[in-house]
Amino acid sequence: MSLTTAPVISLELNGRAVELRAQPMDRLSQALRDNGWNDTKVGCDAGDCGACSVLLDGEVVCSCLIPAAQARGCQVQTAAGLDQTDIHQRLRASFLHHGAAQCGICTPGVMISAAALLADNPAPNRQQVQDALGGVLCRCTGYARIIDAVLNYRQSFSVVEADTGAAVGSRLARLDGAPKIDGGEQFGADVIPADALLLKLIRSPHHCADFSFGDIDAWRASNPQVLAIFTAADVPGQNRFGVIPPFADQPVFAEKTARFRGEAVAAVVAPADVMRQLDLDQFPIHWQPREASLLPTVAQQDDAMQLHESRPGNVLVRGLVQRGDAQGAIASAPHRVQGSYSTPFIEHGYIEPEAGFATRVGDRIELHTCTQTAGMTREDIALIMNLPLDDVRVLPTAVGGGFGSKLDLSIQPYLCLAAWNLNRPVGGVYSRTETMQSTTKRHPSEIDIRVACDEEGMLQGVDFHGTFNTGAYASWGPTVANRVPVHASGPFYVPHYRARSLAIHTNTTPAGAFRGFGVPQAAIALECSLDQLADQIGMDRLQIRLKNALRNGQPTATGQVFDSGVGIADCLQALALDWQRAMADCEAYNQTAARYRRGCGVATCWYGCGNTSLPNPSAIKIGVKACGGVVLHQGAIDIGQGAFTVMAQIAADALGIAVSQLQFAGPDTDTTPDAGKTSASRQTFVSGKATQLSATALRETILREVNASPASQLVFSNGAIEIIDDANRHRIDIANRPTDAEGYVFCAIEQFDPPTTDLDENGQGSPYAQYGYGAQCIELIVDTELGTVKLERLTSAHDVGRAINPALVEGQIEGGATQGIGMALMEEFIPGVSENLHDYLIPTIGDIPEFVHHIVEVPDASGPYGAKGLGEHVLIPTAPAILNAIRHATGAEVRDLPATPDKVLAAIQKRGQ
Ligand code: FES
Repeated sequence: MSLTTAPVISLELNGRAVELRAQPMDRLSQALRDNGWNDTKVGCDAGDCGACSVLLDGEVVCSCLIPAAQARGCQVQTAAGLDQTDIHQRLRASFLHHGAAQCGICTPGVMISAAALLADNPAPNRQQVQDALGGVLCRCTGYARIIDAVLNYRQSFSVVEADTGAAVGSRLARLDGAPKIDGGEQFGADVIPADALLLKLIRSPHHCADFSFGDIDAWRASNPQVLAIFTAADVPGQNRFGVIPPFADQPVFAEKTARFRGEAVAAVVAPADVMRQLDLDQFPIHWQPREASLLPTVAQQDDAMQLHESRPGNVLVRGLVQRGDAQGAIASAPHRVQGSYSTPFIEHGYIEPEAGFATRVGDRIELHTCTQTAGMTREDIALIMNLPLDDVRVLPTAVGGGFGSKLDLSIQPYLCLAAWNLNRPVGGVYSRTETMQSTTKRHPSEIDIRVACDEEGMLQGVDFHGTFNTGAYASWGPTVANRVPVHASGPFYVPHYRARSLAIHTNTTPAGAFRGFGVPQAAIALECSLDQLADQIGMDRLQIRLKNALRNGQPTATGQVFDSGVGIADCLQALALDWQRAMADCEAYNQTAARYRRGCGVATCWYGCGNTSLPNPSAIKIGVKACGGVVLHQGAIDIGQGAFTVMAQIAADALGIAVSQLQFAGPDTDTTPDAGKTSASRQTFVSGKATQLSATALRETILREVNASPASQLVFSNGAIEIIDDANRHRIDIANRPTDAEGYVFCAIEQFDPPTTDLDENGQGSPYAQYGYGAQCIELIVDTELGTVKLERLTSAHDVGRAINPALVEGQIEGGATQGIGMALMEEFIPGVSENLHDYLIPTIGDIPEFVHHIVEVPDASGPYGAKGLGEHVLIPTAPAILNAIRHATGAEVRDLPATPDKVLAAIQKRGQ
């Protein structure tokens, strides 16, 4: 950014005198970053998320709320400066050891808050830690490991080093953890070159409106430093993108009609300092608002606007899975329940807004951006830019949380279009309002369900119908509509089953992928129904689940039969003792407490890992350099879940070396094979398997060359590979061997594509090669006068097949479950209303329960070392377990999420009446 004409602000930064070039009223966060200190991250520019926290004369402040001039003459400390004391160094080591950073975008702010606390109080208790860190939001971790890291910072932590051959299963610290903790991690906004131009978008302020541009040339003439304006007319290729090509329907720029509030209609590019002063409200555009359909019930009316000509009735897609005679079985069963459930839009709430830059390199475009998928981004950019695929290079940056939404394009096409035309680097960062207005959300749902069982509690039939508001464009709507009917049976054997789904277009933000693809919404309906059935027949609520738990050899709702690996019964059995203790605690507590009632709830999950009945390949490359370096090219993008570390653990064991001997090449589309998208809990399973196959192939090639036995030990050194085969020693000189174009003397690339089959017209087939399973038990207390809910403990049992890294597994469970807590109790995105992080609430450090884990390992036949996916599963049982616990505590049934205090209170009062 051009700073040369800005005034100088002198201050002391991290113990050194510095002079910042900044305008007096610039945000301090911006001034620091503009002057090269980008260890301070920015999430909201409104003081809501706390990511930009710094110490200003020893006090924690949100630097986005502090004018740069206010820091003149002050001492400012940022995360990068937390290396000066023993406390700081111990805190960093403790954060790394505890896995307290996942994506890491919040971590500098967390570290600053923790350092301030410890400076005042070197031995805080848990409550004091929660109070001190309460101003920083973390969407990934569930906070528990952050609290533990602060409480335990005085302990000595040494780096866990797994022995050769023992990496899989070890609690290796995240290999990419250190830069997340000191603020050195480079996210989308951090890589924008200092001289890049800045791009901003003009967006619709209306849910639905026709529009026409005014005199753009005149506006441009009155703003001569604006370098370019782009509209739909400037898109060289197709003005359309979408994650599922046959359904691609979202314009890069809307043409004539904007179908949702926040839809982009034009882009403006100028030098950064100019852009920041530019009043885009004066951009010449005439809006003619139209009647908007915000709900599926409205969009399905005869006179509703048709959002897409080819989709009559605004129906994007329908889904169906059926076997047996669900209606007949339910009608003749002795016990049956039915209910209607609804859930709202839910915002992903990652702290990192969409960001990056593009630059033209000859006849190629290079895009540096935060994304969950390099390959899909590249394909859509090539179509939009009308470029051959090889002329698009995507270099993903670190990703500050994604949870599904960063699978879709956002800022990327605009950056490419501008950089290509201006032949200069162009950067951009969405504001918090933009990210909340315009990026995908969890589908709102309206679900009707009927469930029946016999006298012994054996399920006889399930009949499910779900309507999902898919927003203005398709995004992942077809996937949600297809995945939900497959999963709505839960991990149970259901002899008679019918599940139908419907995705309806409305004039709202497109709904897309969000941890679970609709399955969490469906699980609420089934799991609440199971509790009602259990009560009806007088059966323990965990027992009814265990009784019906799918076993090896039993068909799923789609008729798929697994001979091994079905782990739901193991999960429920792992919870049994905790459940009995929790039930006894509730009984004892409720004998004496009147206003406060204690309850416990249980719910399950299953989740098919990978795409539904679609190809789903990952390719991984591993090579040996002449110097003996072993390089793992892995394109499985790590959005905080730990794929980078997991792939290294698998590769090390499969090849037979220590993790510390591996070097890494990241997901650059020019140099690393496509490992597919980070989505659908597929990376550990699919890319992990490809990693295992590649490393094994490389090992076998080396052993074959000297005819050594499979048990041989490999030692890579400069210029040679030594193969120790029992008493025999072989040596392969590689210093002068011919190499391939990338300098490898040995190289293996292997691909894995999980075997699946198409679903027939009744949804029968094998949509996934593996499922993961889990169950969670929640203990909570309800204030029956206020309707508030206090979570006490969450005990989880998740079957991961094989825990490649148990610490990462536990971190995923805590983070996912905390998102489930938000879904259950507080989160609701309302377009036009809750477009920031103070009106849209996500769980804070004060909202979490104690976490207790049982990691269950029922090996999967096709997973690497038996491993199964986990990322989506962990959110699914949390909300229904909470609703079931509220019902257990009070008898109140909340069926319209979120269960805010007013709804809980109303349900309690209804129950009383
Ligand atoms: Fe806290 Fe990602 S680790 S937001």
